[in-house]
Amino acid sequence: MSERSSERWSAEFWDERYRSKPSLWSGNANAVVMAETAGLTPGRALDVGCGEGGDALWLATQGWQVDGVDVSRVALDRAAGHAAAAGGEIASRTRWEQRDLLAWTPPASSYDLVSVPFLHLPSATRVPVYAGLAAAVAPGGTFLVVAHHPSDLGVVPRPPEPDLFFTAEELAAELDDGWRVVTREARSRPGTHPDGYEVLLHDTVLRATR
Ligand SMILES: C[S@@+](CC[C@H](N)C(=O)[O-])C[C@H]1O[C@@H](n2cnc3c(N)ncnc32)[C@H](O)[C@@H]1O
Repeated sequence: MSERSSERWSAEFWDERYRSKPSLWSGNANAVVMAETAGLTPGRALDVGCGEGGDALWLATQGWQVDGVDVSRVALDRAAGHAAAAGGEIASRTRWEQRDLLAWTPPASSYDLVSVPFLHLPSATRVPVYAGLAAAVAPGGTFLVVAHHPSDLGVVPRPPEPDLFFTAEELAAELDDGWRVVTREARSRPGTHPDGYEVLLHDTVLRATR
């Protein structure tokens, strides 16, 4: 195993997590991704940390040509299986590629939508990685980030590293010139604590147009 194999952003960590259950996520697209992309004209999309493909497949049904990238081969194989099951037209609009965001940057100005849902990295890594992802947005395109808001810490169990969590204001401040911020907020949603009681959670949501 490599030095960083047990870290939360390594293939080994995520492959083991995905193997622990037949499916880790619901299979549905994230509600924020659906809401924030609903009015966009479909083009080329990059779904970053696509997992089992819920968002990418939904985007494909909306007419997007989607590249789903993830560090986990296990997750990508599941995503490809769901795409095949969805039928030829959807499968033909999706591509699945194993990429480690710590070692790969997408080509600059090449996507009409770059969507980054729930990819939590230490800030010293996240800032340059997200800058590279934002740079992959073509002129006129959209950069969309959804993440667990820092205020969720203490409400539900999250990894005990506050540095992994960030606000939309912080993200907006990290964008270079040439962006129009469309959405910058902590969006509330109902959730359930593992002990069974209802809680109010918040998602960091940033949508910006280049
Ligand atoms: C919390 S899950 C989110 C999955 C999916 N986007 C969703 O919202 O359901 C984070 C995803 O990021 C992927 N990931 C973690 N570290 C990564 C890295 N270094 N490079 C690429 N993907 C990574 C994981 O394999 C996992 O699928």
